[in-house]
Amino acid sequence: MCGGRCGGDGHAGCSGCRMRSAPIQRAEPPSTHDMAMLRDAAAACTACPLYRNATQTVWGDGIERPAAVLVGEQPGDEEDHVGLPFVGPAGRLLYRALAEAGLPRERCWVTNAVKHFKWTARGKRRIHERPNSREVAACRPWLEAELATLEPRVLVCLGATAATAVLGSTVRVTRDRGRIVTSPFAARTMATIHPSAILRAPDEESRRTAYARFVDDLKVAARASGLLLPA
Ligand code: URA
Repeated sequence: MCGGRCGGDGHAGCSGCRMRSAPIQRAEPPSTHDMAMLRDAAAACTACPLYRNATQTVWGDGIERPAAVLVGEQPGDEEDHVGLPFVGPAGRLLYRALAEAGLPRERCWVTNAVKHFKWTARGKRRIHERPNSREVAACRPWLEAELATLEPRVLVCLGATAATAVLGSTVRVTRDRGRIVTSPFAARTMATIHPSAILRAPDEESRRTAYARFVDDLKVAARASGLLLPA
């Protein structure tokens, strides 16, 4: 048993996990476009079990009339402690790439598809676990409310979890990345890889190649936002 740390997914050695049968509901945001009210309401969210092992809800951050909104998967270890999205290594890489692409962080809003950190304990370390589809669905009303409030000119999905939350289960990041399509949230929506995939690349050469392609994708978003002139 893991004492509930698996977030209800079950895993090897966890057949008796007390969270396995924990109910998952869809979050119910207040009907408002007031960002502070949404953030405060999300802070008390218990729609899925992830709140139990997270330090806090991590809401989005940035300017409220952004040139682009970037959606990641879920907060990581540092984000969970600090209470802000993309403050760790993936965020630093993302902001460098955005600057190179002509889409400065200061002109963006960054957020996540799931607003609590999902993790399992390995010794003293908290290891990131991908949220499952029920957890993404439970959290989706928060993302919907956040995006309805922001009315993004351009929406960028970072990685498969965000892309699926926004574009549905048929999207394939490797196939569809770097192309502007329409989504229910923004007329100009684009999927690309998650910056942590670059950090996980096996060697310097593949990291360099993956980073350059990531910047190219972000340039597509920068052009669609009007911040970068057409190539
Ligand atoms: N990865 C994400 O997807 N979001 C964060 O906020 C940090 C890391």
